Amino acid sequence: MSRTIPDVAPSPLRTLYWPVEPEMARVEQLLREQMRNRHAFVDELVRYGCLLGGKRLRPALLLLIAKAVGPIRQEHLVLAAVVEMIHTATLVHDDVLDEADMRRHLATVNARWDNESSVLLGDYLFTHAFYLASTLESTQACRLIGKATNLVCEGEIRQKGSRANYQLTEAEYLSIISAKTAELCACCGELGALFAGGDAETVEAMAQFGRKLGVAFQIADDLLDVQGDEQATGKSLGTDLEKQKPTLPLIRAMQVASPAARDALLAALEEPASGRRMLLTNLLEELGAIEYTRQTALGFAQEARELLADRLAPSPSRQVLELITDLVVNRSH
Ligand code: IPE
Ligand code: IPE
Ligand code: MG
Ligand code: MG
Repeated sequence: MSRTIPDVAPSPLRTLYWPVEPEMARVEQLLREQMRNRHAFVDELVRYGCLLGGKRLRPALLLLIAKAVGPIRQEHLVLAAVVEMIHTATLVHDDVLDEADMRRHLATVNARWDNESSVLLGDYLFTHAFYLASTLESTQACRLIGKATNLVCEGEIRQKGSRANYQLTEAEYLSIISAKTAELCACCGELGALFAGGDAETVEAMAQFGRKLGVAFQIADDLLDVQGDEQATGKSLGTDLEKQKPTLPLIRAMQVASPAARDALLAALEEPASGRRMLLTNLLEELGAIEYTRQTALGFAQEARELLADRLAPSPSRQVLELITDLVVNRSH
């Protein structure tokens, strides 16, 4: 039996995207049109997965960069919908890996239905995104999106391979998050600039901008996993610790800890979930690892901002992109 989909207010971040507001509305419309299916259960799943909540950060990046570089074209709208579908597919699968039960302020697909539905929905979203990208005349977009998505999956697999490896170096961690998160943001920058007619240097700089921003975004997300608030983020937190993912706060703490402090950290990781988060947060604070992580994220955001200033003429879109570099690090959601 088909259940109704609850109403979820769009993320407040979306008002920030005002220079591309009409285009964002058209992307939303496109998503609504594309994410329909004549079979009731398929329809229910794809609408649940794709149409609700979410910051819509990737489509906004793509469109803001396009507008800052040249005119927004029809291709941009399609590509913005495509990257959001791919992003959502990765989240639906990620929630299975992390056994998460909340996403975008709602029950995850795996919690509301089951893992089987999530695997299938993720596959549906990936394949629909590639089909939609292939309707564009240029094959270049498909090639770039294919490469980026492949790297995202590679990053998720590498992360799985480094589970419980608390000796992982900071460089290895950065390389993993560059793949699993930043590649799609880089792709947004590249596609936005490319289809707006940007020259080769601008296209490369905007890809670089997306990559730096994506790294800053994931570091901030990893901090939220340790000390954020589930009500504010609208998603399950603490899953990195639960799933023994080595993220920067822990990597840094292990690196600077004395042998005794290292033992305390390892013991805290073994604690039951209820007490573990608080215990670990305190240890990480004491070792300066929280502040270090925050400063590292701020550093990447700063590098992203510099790329904008170097490459783009001043415009409202550039201003909003600059603001986004601030917000991705200083956010509670
Ligand atoms: C969550 O991305 C996954 C990460 C890369 C950390 P978002 O925080 O952009 O998720 P939505 O789209 O707003 O739900
Ligand atoms: C997942 O990272 C990033 C993806 C590329 C899917 P996380 O596992 O940290 O994302 P959240 O915290 O669940 O959103
Ligand atoms: Mg997760
Ligand atoms: Mg996370």
